[in-house]
Amino acid sequence: MDFILVRNVHIATVGITLTLFLLRYAWMLQESPRLQARWVKIFPHVNDTVLLASGIGLAVMIHQYPFVNAWLTAKLFALVAYIVLGTLALKRARGKAQRAASGLAALAVFAYLVMVAVSHSAAPWSVWQ
Ligand code: HEM
Repeated sequence: MDFILVRNVHIATVGITLTLFLLRYAWMLQESPRLQARWVKIFPHVNDTVLLASGIGLAVMIHQYPFVNAWLTAKLFALVAYIVLGTLALKRARGKAQRAASGLAALAVFAYLVMVAVSHSAAPWSVWQ
């Protein structure tokens, strides 16, 4: 399969996951019933499956893998942290303050994920030194 095509799919699903998260985060803060809509419960999971699958596809194509190359290990762990924090923010955390804080932490982890992806480094800030 074409590397550029899969990378474009990966980057598109990155944009969609962020948009969907921001939308659901806003609805959670507003206590909007739209958070319970059927598509809102299904579509993000479909998108995130494509995001993960395209990420794995890219790793295979460039012959770099989690637990072999540090930046991809960091990406995998950060992805798990993003999912856990995102679930806390939208569902599991008790009370709005904890949900709001979990959401901000999820966004910080997301920013780290993008920096790791672009720099190919588990410590992306090291390129500024
Ligand atoms: C929310 C999670 C993720 C985000 C935000 C994300 C973000 C990105 C971005 C922005 C790029 C493009 C980098 C560039 O063009 O310079 C990229 C590329 C890539 N991602 Fe992800 N990614 C995520 C999850 C994953 C996962 C789980 C894997 C694999 C285990 C993965 C593997 C890759 C690979 C191999 C590339 C290609 C790097 C290259 O161009 O050489 N990504 N990712």
